Amino acid sequence: MQDRSPRPEELEPIERASVDELRALQRDRLRWSLRHAYDNVPHYRAAFDAAGAHPDDARDLTDLARFPFTTKAELRDNYPFGMFAVPREQVSRLHASSGTTGRPTVVGYTSDDVRTWARLMARSIRAAGGRPGEKVHVAYGYGLFTGGLGAHYGAEELGCTVIPVSGGMTERQVMLIRDFEPDVIMVTPTYMLAILDEMERQGMDPRGCSLQVGIFGAEPWTAQMRREMEQRLDLHALDIYGLSEVMGPGVAVECVETKDGLHVWEDHFYPEIIDPDTGEVLPDGEVGELVLTSLSKQAMPVVRYRTRDLTRLLPGTARPMRRIEKITGRTDDMIILRGVNLFPSQIEELILRTPELSPHFQCLLGRQGRMDTLTVRVERRAGVEPAAAERAGATLAGQVKNTIGVSIEVEVLAPDGVERSMGKMRRIVDGR
Ligand code: DLL
Repeated sequence: MQDRSPRPEELEPIERASVDELRALQRDRLRWSLRHAYDNVPHYRAAFDAAGAHPDDARDLTDLARFPFTTKAELRDNYPFGMFAVPREQVSRLHASSGTTGRPTVVGYTSDDVRTWARLMARSIRAAGGRPGEKVHVAYGYGLFTGGLGAHYGAEELGCTVIPVSGGMTERQVMLIRDFEPDVIMVTPTYMLAILDEMERQGMDPRGCSLQVGIFGAEPWTAQMRREMEQRLDLHALDIYGLSEVMGPGVAVECVETKDGLHVWEDHFYPEIIDPDTGEVLPDGEVGELVLTSLSKQAMPVVRYRTRDLTRLLPGTARPMRRIEKITGRTDDMIILRGVNLFPSQIEELILRTPELSPHFQCLLGRQGRMDTLTVRVERRAGVEPAAAERAGATLAGQVKNTIGVSIEVEVLAPDGVERSMGKMRRIVDGR
């Protein structure tokens, strides 16, 4: 793999600032953001007043803990435009979160917000190893989902040639990769796997293709999955995180020179980790729920937004900004199976250590009598004997029992037996 570390002079000044400089900037921006939310969004005014917290009370960053959390339910209650802090005429773009049930969550951007987002995405692509002048294949979905347009504007801002493919039509994705020879691909990790399989089906050698950098996000993926992709594609696989409520992709990203967790762009977002049950702020290093506060957003500021994503904060390495560890999962994706908590990412890690099994899997929740059951449906790898894959499946069930402490069923399917995602993969199917 090529060395793709950026040279120091390519970074923005804030990416080379000291932690003290960064904190001073955050303090100023936090005061502005709290005041902006309080003055312009009735929901925040009422919530701050009810909590007895006034923007003038925020002298230091730790004072943020006195302000109330914001939840997805509150955003929904203010559907569609009630959380906007500027007149609707000044909103130049709307996006909405997928929301499998009920109303989506609507988010708005001023033209300044769109520019900030583009700049942060350009910074993210560069941190991941992309360079001006390179070709970027965007296979995140375009539309209300923030993935496609977020990646698109960022790649353009960096000075790249953008190939706006969007998700789907996998055969054509492969054709375009072969013919246009992109350097960078931006796509969900599970859809990358589907593209990878299609490359092999078409008799193409994925390691020989033009791709040098993959920027994968929008869903959890493990360190084992990184190994799988880097090995099969001979590229740098980097993690990118974000959520529509806070901006979209580009809230945090891994740096290609370290690949050691995702640097949060703290000049625009202030991260906290809380105990999801008590709401107490936890010290850096402890695992809990990520809470984010926007520091510069105009159209839709968010104060202490509860992401439901589980991770921990670590000190900065390649940048002064703190890192989050790869997300383990969401509090709402945690499977509680007969009293034992587990995440699909734990299953993924074990599957990817089993050479007979492919990374395509789904977790099916069921019920037998009064007992909840979990069946992991996983494909055998192409070329593996069914009997050998069956034995590997039994071993997998044993490993889950030994490491996580709960009995599950493993159903090994033929290659292509598990439904493919074109964006975010539905890892959990609840059949109860
Ligand atoms: O998924 C934004 C995005 C697009 C991020 C493209 C990265 C790349 P939403 O649809 O609002 O926004 O979903 C946000 O997806 O709260 C996490 O649960 C999950 N998520 C996003 N990125 C990651 C990641 C986009 N790198 C929700 N690792 C978040 C794990 C992720 N989970």
